[in-house]
Amino acid sequence: MSCFLICGALFVVAAYFYREVIVKGQRCTSAVRLHGKTAIVTGSNTGIGKRTAVDLAKRGARVIMACRSRERGEAAMEDVKRESGSSDVVFLPLDLASFKSIREFAENFLKSEPRLDLLINNAGLYSGGRTQEGFGMMFGVNHLGHFLLTDLLLDRLKESGPSRVVNVSSMGHNVGRVDFDCLNKNKALGLGTSMFDLLQIYADSKLCNVLFTHELNKRLQGTKVTCYSLHPGAINSELDRNFSRVLVWVLSPVTAFFFKTPEQGCQTTLHCALQPGLEPLSGRYFSNCTVRNVFAKARDDAAARKLWELSERMCGME
Ligand SMILES: NC(=O)c1ccc[n+]([C@@H]2O[C@H](COP(=O)([O-])OP(=O)(O)OC[C@H]3O[C@@H](n4cnc5c(N)ncnc54)[C@H](OP(=O)(O)O)[C@@H]3O)[C@@H](O)[C@H]2O)c1
Ligand SMILES: *[C@@H]1O[C@H](CO)[C@@H](O)[C@H](O)[C@H]1NC(C)=O
Ligand SMILES: *[C@@H]1O[C@H](CO)[C@@H](O)[C@H](O)[C@H]1NC(C)=O
Repeated sequence: MSCFLICGALFVVAAYFYREVIVKGQRCTSAVRLHGKTAIVTGSNTGIGKRTAVDLAKRGARVIMACRSRERGEAAMEDVKRESGSSDVVFLPLDLASFKSIREFAENFLKSEPRLDLLINNAGLYSGGRTQEGFGMMFGVNHLGHFLLTDLLLDRLKESGPSRVVNVSSMGHNVGRVDFDCLNKNKALGLGTSMFDLLQIYADSKLCNVLFTHELNKRLQGTKVTCYSLHPGAINSELDRNFSRVLVWVLSPVTAFFFKTPEQGCQTTLHCALQPGLEPLSGRYFSNCTVRNVFAKARDDAAARKLWELSERMCGME
């Protein structure tokens, strides 16, 4: 009997420790205030983007919530204002699955906002389908849309330096690969539609984020703009909305216990955006608020350059 009690107590203590220390992970410890600074957070109407927006607004930043749905974006803006106690929060429509929308967003932003100190490329999705211009949805939104957006805003970032670009990638990039033949032929990273195919394409798109950051850093040498990519952790968010409902239900006890809350999940984003002295680590990849080494394929100079040039062509930039 007492053995049961002791074992039970030990189990509870171990589970508590696991959740409070390992799952929760490190927090951003920066006390930086952001009065007079402007930040854009893409996909900030829910999930970790919304928590990031609340934190930045609390620190006094002017926060631009770049979201695709006016209804959800404006409702979230009210939440962010209330939770942060700041009224300096703005919704600006941005659909990363449409070049037209991205260009309109950039035009509106550049017209009305004199500075840009933080660009948080956070929006991302797991889904099939195609973008307005016919690119694979995950390649188009998770990579190409942010590529174009960052390019359009780069001069304003440079003028406002020291400024930072933060790319929310994923640990999933470790199993990613970039199939240039498929991209050239089909405007997509893959053509499959099964759950496994989509998970692979998601990972591929997240590898693009890390490669992009790698190449962007090179192109930013000599400027006061630095860039970082990161894995936010496994988080209970809406990212699973296109997963099978049965699977989500079966896994819910696991995710409830082992996954972070969005508030815990935005800490590495905040670390990359706010930690003073991070500049020498520009171009690197972070998780759990710590810089990490990546596999060779994620710092492959030739692949990063090739992806950059292909992305330029796809966006009609050159
Ligand atoms: N959750 C995890 O475990 C996990 C792990 C690793 C990496 N990440 C990454 O973390 C980032 C944030 O994810 P989350 O977990 O917070 O997911 P989430 O709750 O699903 O939020 C994703 C956000 O992206 C927005 N978005 C999707 N497509 C868009 C488009 N075409 N244009 C503009 N915005 C768009 C969504 O807007 P709508 O509400 O309008 O769809 C939403 O605001 C993503 O880049 C994701 O890949 C998440
Ligand atoms: C995150 O870092 C903390 C503090 O160093 C550590 O205790 C925890 O185990 C780490 N979590 C993960 C998932 O690596
Ligand atoms: C993903 O989910 C959204 C909203 O739940 C839905 O509109 C969309 O059609 C889904 N996409 C796919 C490919 O299942």
